[in-house]
Amino acid sequence: MAATIEPESDFSALPDPGEGVFTAPLKRPAHVGEDWLEPAQTDYSAEDDKIWDELFARQMEILPGRACTAFMQGLDKLDLGRGGVPDFGRLSEELGRQTGWSVVPVPMLIPDHVFFWHLANRRFPAGNFIRTRETFDYIQEPDVFHDVFGHVPMLTDPVFADYMQAYGRAGWKAMRYNRLKALGALYWYTVEFGLIREADGLRIYGAGILSGPREAVFALEGESPNRIMLAVDRVMRTDYVIDDLQPTYFVIESFEDLYHQTVERDFDQLYRNLGPGFTYANAAVLDIDNLLHRGTQEYHLRGGRGSGAAPV
Ligand SMILES: [Fe+2]
Repeated sequence: MAATIEPESDFSALPDPGEGVFTAPLKRPAHVGEDWLEPAQTDYSAEDDKIWDELFARQMEILPGRACTAFMQGLDKLDLGRGGVPDFGRLSEELGRQTGWSVVPVPMLIPDHVFFWHLANRRFPAGNFIRTRETFDYIQEPDVFHDVFGHVPMLTDPVFADYMQAYGRAGWKAMRYNRLKALGALYWYTVEFGLIREADGLRIYGAGILSGPREAVFALEGESPNRIMLAVDRVMRTDYVIDDLQPTYFVIESFEDLYHQTVERDFDQLYRNLGPGFTYANAAVLDIDNLLHRGTQEYHLRGGRGSGAAPV
């Protein structure tokens, strides 16, 4: 039997997404190269360090008993509460010893193909800047608090660390099929907004929830959102909200399960059958779903962010 030829097996060089692949038109700042890496991490002011410390303290009021075990252990392993914005060099040394990852500074959101390339090589690009007091509660662009507090502790978990690399490598195929949106939905519903079932109940592993003040309680305990067991194909066909709480959260059994669902899925077949947009609305509940909680959607039906609706 002929072996299946994997066109993508070398992830060492920055990929070229090609002319026809639809990506966000991000303009590269003049001081960074094609890898989008900052030459060095910013020198943070005393006020920047204070903002980090206050954000850290606020999250620690909310997260114990809600964040997953791997995240809480990761915070400890990396000593992220030692005070001030963490130094990426020191973080990378510690992470390198644990799972072979490093943290590298970038100026802003970076293009998909550059992001995939860094992940595929176990480098996590983290926003260099920190939010100001004016944007203390919510910023759309990921800053160093979101990226380092939210994402980096999870990279101390060996299986999750492998999942992140596998995700980056999956980017090559998504580019070849021009289906970046579908792969983006997988990232969104796992790495950013994922829940996991632990022995004591549901817990959070998604950085978008872990790094903000409002969503932890809503995601786990709210009546509004759906909570559905994750199936990779289903998630990759599902639209998502980028500037408000999610109408639906997807739950995994374990990081092993997430890893296997992703690396064992034949994305060629999936992409061939997939249209260019999303099939399912973000609040949809389907007959095929393994549903844990059918949400009332009260929060979104009352108007969501900006309407004054309570996140219930
Ligand atoms: Fe993020």
